[in-house]
Amino acid sequence: MAERSLQDKNGITYELFELDPAVYYQERYAHRDVVGIADKEGSAVRSSLAYQKARQLLETLRLLKREAGDRRLQVLEVGCGSGAFGSRVKRFDSHIQLFGVDMSSSCIEIAKRNGFDEAVVYDAAEGLPYGDDQFDLVYTIDFFGHIEFRSKDAIIADIHRVTKPGGLGFHGIETGAIDYWNCNPKDPNDPIRQYVYTEGHIGVEPLEDIADRFSPLFEIIQAFPFPLRPLLHIQNIRNSRHWGDEFNDAFAEIDSPKSRMAANLILGWINRYLTDQLLRAYGNQLIRTRVPKSGHQGLDRFIDTLLQGSGFSMTTVRKRMMD
Ligand SMILES: C[S@@+](CC[C@H](N)C(=O)[O-])C[C@H]1O[C@@H](n2cnc3c(N)ncnc32)[C@H](O)[C@@H]1O
Repeated sequence: MAERSLQDKNGITYELFELDPAVYYQERYAHRDVVGIADKEGSAVRSSLAYQKARQLLETLRLLKREAGDRRLQVLEVGCGSGAFGSRVKRFDSHIQLFGVDMSSSCIEIAKRNGFDEAVVYDAAEGLPYGDDQFDLVYTIDFFGHIEFRSKDAIIADIHRVTKPGGLGFHGIETGAIDYWNCNPKDPNDPIRQYVYTEGHIGVEPLEDIADRFSPLFEIIQAFPFPLRPLLHIQNIRNSRHWGDEFNDAFAEIDSPKSRMAANLILGWINRYLTDQLLRAYGNQLIRTRVPKSGHQGLDRFIDTLLQGSGFSMTTVRKRMMD
């Protein structure tokens, strides 16, 4: 039973969970094995569920290039980590001038080896170290879920500031309804505390809340959650024991790197299929609260389940011009 109930999102902080982000992030995402990752990814990887983040980012770059013509594009990744996505951006178009910011110096060293033209150690909550209207595209992937609720709006406002008029944004964000308010943040056995410690996810929220944060400053071009849960990887399904012992035993019988790859490929295909169908049926903003009800209770419950996005969502935006 929870010992405390916190009402205010902004009260959910790393400090509350006794975690120092500067120490935690220094090595947590310093993955030296991702140097040059884009050159090693074959077609099976590029069709997998995990790769859909990169696929959608590249889709946004294609849109940008169509609009910008031959101009050299300036692109910024906030929370670039070791630069796995930067490596893909550079492989897509080596002429793009790519900037990165991360609070971990270990990550920044690796990101530079992954092709970033300029990558700096910086805490994004302190403001971004760039001038106004500089970037054609600012993107984040697996970043906002690591940002305390109280800092999110200021970071979004700063991303708006450094984006060119009419420029684009792409944000792949950890998404879901995490009950930070009913936990004991000091108890090492508390499941929410363990969740926060596992990957550093201090600020995960539903897509409707994410959209509400971006909407005042950015026009939402497209927003959708991943309909598959639990997701990203067959290992997630096994870890969560979501499909039960029988499934796990059956999987263990045929487990091998190739069968895992096949599973991830099929998960990717199903996720893409479901997303495409939902986008076709409901338009470009697959946000639970904005999708009209059909009046059929069962169907509405099914659609609602698909749109819960407990895992991940992707949002493409365009900078609004303010007066
Ligand atoms: C899950 S990793 C994602 C890295 C990269 N975007 C990727 O997907 O490969 C999250 C990154 O955000 C960085 N980070 C967290 N809080 C930050 C902050 N306030 N300012 C800058 N970087 C931050 C961490 O150091 C970490 O490298």
